[in-house]
Amino acid sequence: MTILVTGGAGFIGGNFVLDWVGCSDEVVINLDKLTYAGNLESLASLDGNPQHIFVQGDIADAELVRHLLAEHQPRAVINFAAESHVDRSIHGPEEFIQTNIVGTFRLLEEVRSYWKALPDQARADFRFLHVSTDEVYGSLATDAPAFTEEHRYEPNSPYSASKAASDHLVRSYHHTYGLPVLTTNCSNNYGPYHFPEKLIPLLIVNALAGKQLPVYGDGQQIRDWLYVKDHCSAIRRVLEAGKLGEVYNVGGWNEKPNLDIVHHVCALLDELQPKADASSYRDLITFVTDRPGHDRRYAIDARKLERELGWKPAETFESGIRKTVQWYLDNQQWVNNVQSGDYRNWVTQNYGERSA
Ligand code: NAD
Ligand code: DAU
Repeated sequence: MTILVTGGAGFIGGNFVLDWVGCSDEVVINLDKLTYAGNLESLASLDGNPQHIFVQGDIADAELVRHLLAEHQPRAVINFAAESHVDRSIHGPEEFIQTNIVGTFRLLEEVRSYWKALPDQARADFRFLHVSTDEVYGSLATDAPAFTEEHRYEPNSPYSASKAASDHLVRSYHHTYGLPVLTTNCSNNYGPYHFPEKLIPLLIVNALAGKQLPVYGDGQQIRDWLYVKDHCSAIRRVLEAGKLGEVYNVGGWNEKPNLDIVHHVCALLDELQPKADASSYRDLITFVTDRPGHDRRYAIDARKLERELGWKPAETFESGIRKTVQWYLDNQQWVNNVQSGDYRNWVTQNYGERSA
């Protein structure tokens, strides 16, 4: 059996692929464009493993997707591929429209043709799982209940608007064509292999380099944090037992103001990698201009996933963030290669002329 994962060289997709190979015999076809966010070094442990087949390419390349589906006959497609960073979507939204909307549309079209032509049993068993975000629901008032799956869509950034559009396309392919889809909307992830443009890895990497820790606005914006491996286990569970056409919110009940996160990371670094002069990493905190249109609060109500599919996160925030900080301390070479840009040459450096 085979699954096709898109965006599997990114942060969450990469963790998903590593976990999948660790807990299943199935082959993973990993289709990733290798944008700046794709890093094959994160998958170095799978080098030479026949269970992982990497293909560099775009989900919007209909011919390539058609060819991969025909050749590998996957029983499921899991779509992680996206432009994912809100700040980048503010500076340049076009790539977000292209990949998150047009790309998802092209992928859906090819998957629909492939699925329609499958023999009866394979068609009944097939799944298209779309990985989405809590940001499509917009910003919550301080005292409002957490987002349920019924919360109206109110995306506020070009990123979240493009994800919302992709969610709607996925939904429509189920209602119109009967494509067996599942959608997950998850809160903020953190963990190993996270690109240091996002808050938590940026804090760790900057602190260790003695650079400023930029806090947008007053730092009181709230995010709901989930350890990436818990997100991966939720996706596996939804793939296995989710009801067709349904949406599942994924979250860890870990709402925290950004400034608390900054203080927590500084305290862990003070403990695990104390500075020579015994000063605290907190001294590096710098308040900077706020993100335009910055959503004030996200919070996920994950009770449906727990009630219907029995999923629960394994990590608390305290255990997950400690593992994460330790991972960055133990993987300085990965960080150095990201910072120097060498990660983009990793394939050539490590495999010479052999294609990824
Ligand atoms: P990421 O930016 O780390 O990785 C995205 C991956 O997709 C990269 O490897 C990139 O090369 C690839 N990619 C981009 N455009 C592509 C294209 N056109 N064709 C093929 N591959 C392409 O993102 P992430 O943080 O791992 O997020 C993965 C998914 O999960 C995204 O859909 C995102 O919206 C969603 N999500 C992320 C979070 C989070 O906290 N990071 C939370 C909820 C949902
Ligand atoms: O909620 C899920 C979303 O979480 C995902 O859909 C996105 O793909 C993912 O990037 C993430 O979006 P955020 O905008 O919440 O994550 P980011 O790490 O960029 O920022 C987290 C919070 O920290 C946010 O309130 C902005 C703030 N921030 C961020 C950075 C990079 C800072 O204060 N300083 C910073 O330097």
